[in-house]
Amino acid sequence: MFITFEGPDGSGKSTQIKKTAQSLTAAGYEVVLTREPGGTEISNQIREVIMNLKNKQMSPRTEILLFCSARAQLVEELIRPALAAGKIVISDRYADSTLAYQGFGHGFDRRFLKELLNFATGNLWPDLTLLLDISPEKGLQRRLSNAVEWNRMDDYQLAFHQRVRDGYLLLAADEPGRWRMVNADQEEDRIQAEIMAIVRERLNTF
Ligand code: TYD
Repeated sequence: MFITFEGPDGSGKSTQIKKTAQSLTAAGYEVVLTREPGGTEISNQIREVIMNLKNKQMSPRTEILLFCSARAQLVEELIRPALAAGKIVISDRYADSTLAYQGFGHGFDRRFLKELLNFATGNLWPDLTLLLDISPEKGLQRRLSNAVEWNRMDDYQLAFHQRVRDGYLLLAADEPGRWRMVNADQEEDRIQAEIMAIVRERLNTF
């Protein structure tokens, strides 16, 4: 089973993903954790280029292709083999991030992006996508309180993050069978309980 976590910056995804993986491992499942951009040696090298604060002049088109390159490598090298071996793969962001950030955020044609994503992933889409929803104001506040984690991608205007959030809500509404939304503006344990209830239900019906 392939599970992805999506959400605006600062939605607390990484904490929740770690906890989810721990619970599933404790329940006897084999879990492979990954994150985007990154997850393999080559993808991490591409991540470094995307995130580097030195690369302020990077064109949005370059950025799209780099995200897709990192993802193509991740799918081939790590995700597909793990799924074929019957493992649960959990990814911190995946193709929907490109639709939300580059599509809704930057205004690139979403139908084209979807085709590009199908090419990059060989049509691999998640079985379950958890959207950790939070307002951009709250999300960015959280990131600001952790300045070490600040990177080039955070450096956009609030309006951009608002479009990303609204985009996520539309993507989730479009494919209700795959997406489940969780309010990320709650206490950590409560968010985790909601996530695990959704994941357990999916595992039973998988
Ligand atoms: P990261 O530091 O991993 O942030 P987060 O903890 O919020 O996931 O940086 C990822 C950034 O890259 C984040 O701002 C979202 C952005 N992004 C895209 O714009 N498009 C993509 O396809 C992906 C995977 C990420």
